[in-house]
Amino acid sequence: MADAASGSTDKSVQVKLVLLGEAAVGKSSVVLRFVSDEFQPNKEPTIGAAFLTQKCRLEDRVLRYEIWDTAGQERFHSLAPMYYRNAQAAVVVYDITKASSLEKAKSWVKELQRQANPNIVIALAGNKLDLVQSSSSTPGAPSSESEDEADDATATPGEAPSPSGGESEGGLRQVPREEAQAYATEAGLLFFETSAKTGEGIVDIFTEIAKKIPIEHILAATRGGAGRPGAAGGRAGGAPEGAVNLEENANKPKDACNC
Ligand code: GTP
Ligand code: MG
Repeated sequence: MADAASGSTDKSVQVKLVLLGEAAVGKSSVVLRFVSDEFQPNKEPTIGAAFLTQKCRLEDRVLRYEIWDTAGQERFHSLAPMYYRNAQAAVVVYDITKASSLEKAKSWVKELQRQANPNIVIALAGNKLDLVQSSSSTPGAPSSESEDEADDATATPGEAPSPSGGESEGGLRQVPREEAQAYATEAGLLFFETSAKTGEGIVDIFTEIAKKIPIEHILAATRGGAGRPGAAGGRAGGAPEGAVNLEENANKPKDACNC
């Protein structure tokens, strides 16, 4: 669509985005798909956090996402505020084959709503959609039975094997789409089901976030406040110590995302 024509390329707005969620739900894989359009079947756990960037072209503006991909392991939890502080956007990821990961996602959302920037745009992403699509269930078309179950709210965690490493195809869905969607609506979140493996839904997350970001507000803050509130102004105000910085990824020449 719109070519970032008429010299508007340098009007790129920097948007700080943080990914949060339980370990092994696929945060790094979602980012890798978005930034490099790649997938690694045996991606190693993130230590601390990783930093990557990607551009996203809107009709009249180019956004430059500065992405903090946090580590989901519990021992890193206390670092999270340093990454979501001043973030304009957050993607909270869970694994649709693991019910407990939605509970963890909800607690991240609560924490963000209490402690992050009040205008933060939050998206909830149910990842590993490919695992349930390759089994018998119909993609995106839940049976009426599961609607009834959704009334009972919490899907029973427990018995079903959880292929959190992505090793077994055909894992069981533990989080009904409509349950997560209902929660997202109630909490005021964007909602997606995604697969970092196939790429389904990944670009949509970042495109829809981009549309909701109050760009004019950020630009005004950047101009008026000398890059103040976490908008532009160098590397994410308060880059935490000990962060694993994957700048190499950021240095690869990249066109705008598919937005
Ligand atoms: P931490 O860094 O420990 O918090 O984990 P993470 O949330 O970044 O998860 P990561 O991206 O490292 O993925 C964990 C495992 O799940 C890896 O083996 C991935 O290959 C796999 N995985 C991630 N996304 C998907 C997906 O969409 N489908 C399938 N089948 N596997 C996935
Ligand atoms: Mg990771």
